[in-house]
Amino acid sequence: MPAKLLILGGTGEASALARIVAEAGLDAVFSYAGRVDRPREQPVPVRVGGFGGEDGLARFLRSQAISHVVDATHPFAAGMSTNAVAACEATGVPLIALTRPPWSAGPRDQWTHVPHIAAAVDALAGVPRRVFLAVGRMHLAAFAALSQHRYLLRLVDRPEALPLPGAGVVIDRGPFSVESDRALLQQHRIELVVSKNAGGDGARSKIDAARQLGLPVLMIDRPVIPARDEARTPAQVMEWLAHSGVNLGV
Ligand SMILES: NC(=O)c1ccc[n+]([C@@H]2O[C@H](COP(=O)([O-])OP(=O)(O)OC[C@H]3O[C@@H](n4cnc5c(N)ncnc54)[C@H](OP(=O)(O)O)[C@@H]3O)[C@@H](O)[C@H]2O)c1
Repeated sequence: MPAKLLILGGTGEASALARIVAEAGLDAVFSYAGRVDRPREQPVPVRVGGFGGEDGLARFLRSQAISHVVDATHPFAAGMSTNAVAACEATGVPLIALTRPPWSAGPRDQWTHVPHIAAAVDALAGVPRRVFLAVGRMHLAAFAALSQHRYLLRLVDRPEALPLPGAGVVIDRGPFSVESDRALLQQHRIELVVSKNAGGDGARSKIDAARQLGLPVLMIDRPVIPARDEARTPAQVMEWLAHSGVNLGV
């Protein structure tokens, strides 16, 4: 069977892999969940939207004759990643995840760790503060009960309605720099940063900016995902493909 990759995307790493896969002339399809209005263009065919759970993904793998799956979703996309493990097990399609190590606190960081979003909400109870809430649009509603805070949000698309009335909104999809994030935090007189432990460079600048300004960070730890093979770089994914018998033409 000729190789045909499914790249589960939505991250910078997924886009980097798609470029390398296209340059190698491999057949691939890139999948977006469909959360943003204008997803980045890709050099391979793109499909958009959920598969319909693990059974839907298994059907997709069979019907599209997918030979390998690369899960390059965000570390907090635990539902998709869990489904990928189950569907690949059910179909016998080899799976690898393209992952990034989590951030870890240095001596000048003031982090409080919480295990999930609900715990972050609990930790925010109390006196009003000016909070940079960097948790993504999907999770904002969880913070609506804590209306005493003045929130600053940074979103990819301008939302039609927000569950946090009165929140300041910056529309920007990055890339961000430490300098511009420091200026943003200062301009809005932010007292606390709430962040997922995304890892990688793409979302790191706000954490570095918080350290430079001596601001505390409420750090939401990663969800647990079932064990799977992991690669740290697109090059390692290509090595894994070569070891799995895919002809890369080199
Ligand atoms: N969570 C974050 O903080 C974050 C940050 C940056 C980017 N992203 C990206 O945004 C997307 C959604 O993240 P999430 O946290 O909402 O994921 P999630 O909770 O794990 O996914 C929920 C459902 O959305 C669908 N889905 C997710 N990723 C998909 C993909 N790449 N292609 C097709 N369907 C997908 C699947 O639906 P079905 O069950 O119907 O298949 C999945 O079960 C992911 O692709 C992720 O890489 C997420």
